[in-house]
Amino acid sequence: MAKVIAISNHKGGVGKTTSTVNIGAGIAMKGKKVLLIDLDPQANLTQCLGIIDPEETIYGALRGEYDIPIVKANENLFVTPSTLDLASVEMELSTKIAREIILKKMVEKVAHNFDFIFIDCPPSLGLITVNAFAAANEIFIPLQAQFLALHGLDKLTDIIALVKENLNPELKVGGVFITQYDSRKILNRDIAESVSDYFNGNIFTTFIRDNVALAEAPIHGIDIFRYDPKSNGAKDYNSLINEFFN
Ligand SMILES: Nc1ncnc2c1ncn2[C@@H]1O[C@H](COP(=O)(O)OP(=O)(O)OP(=O)(O)O)[C@@H](O)[C@H]1O
Ligand SMILES: [Mg+2]
Repeated sequence: MAKVIAISNHKGGVGKTTSTVNIGAGIAMKGKKVLLIDLDPQANLTQCLGIIDPEETIYGALRGEYDIPIVKANENLFVTPSTLDLASVEMELSTKIAREIILKKMVEKVAHNFDFIFIDCPPSLGLITVNAFAAANEIFIPLQAQFLALHGLDKLTDIIALVKENLNPELKVGGVFITQYDSRKILNRDIAESVSDYFNGNIFTTFIRDNVALAEAPIHGIDIFRYDPKSNGAKDYNSLINEFFN
């Protein structure tokens, strides 16, 4: 049965999609079967892996039109694509009974086929994200070590607590990790420390450094390990995966 991990932070541009793609690709390369669910209307994850105009998407599946679509991206790596239309799904589902657990039920049907399922969440805390938290065993939170990195995080931890209380008692924060880290900036180091305090030390020791190859890889529709396996980006995500496995 797959372990289901939601990668979430309602702050935009912190590295959720980059982390979902590269953690997923790295684990798939280690021989585990991985599904990546693109739960963001921006459909960045879908595009990052070179999937263009998919016929079936998470949007149609959430609306009950068909089962969760699964597209093969690479050896051991599968994707549930998204589409811009997903932006209207929160309104459409707002009156539906059990609307918070639609994704959970879909994921349960396919979980036995995978070792890991990662869900790339949108930069918001609405019904879509609640669906991800209800379906997940764990949440990973990527954070940029910048001024105001912790600002607004109470909102995220409040929603996690509410989902835990009402929908998913086993849910936990699997870990927080720092992305786009620049060791030359002293501010960065101070903030990494306060993040660690905020999450009671529940932070990965691996920092994902600022690395241009991580921004270039998606342009080619591939992950960092295929794009530039010697880059700092590949090294850091590999180290994060090893830390996760230990
Ligand atoms: N470690 C890094 N080094 C350099 N660039 C990075 C790094 N991580 C992410 N980026 C770039 O920063 C931008 C934002 O990253 P990403 O899309 O992964 O964030 P996100 O949290 O998914 O954003 P959104 O909230 O819009 O979904 C992208 O252009 C990405 O290529
Ligand atoms: Mg994203």
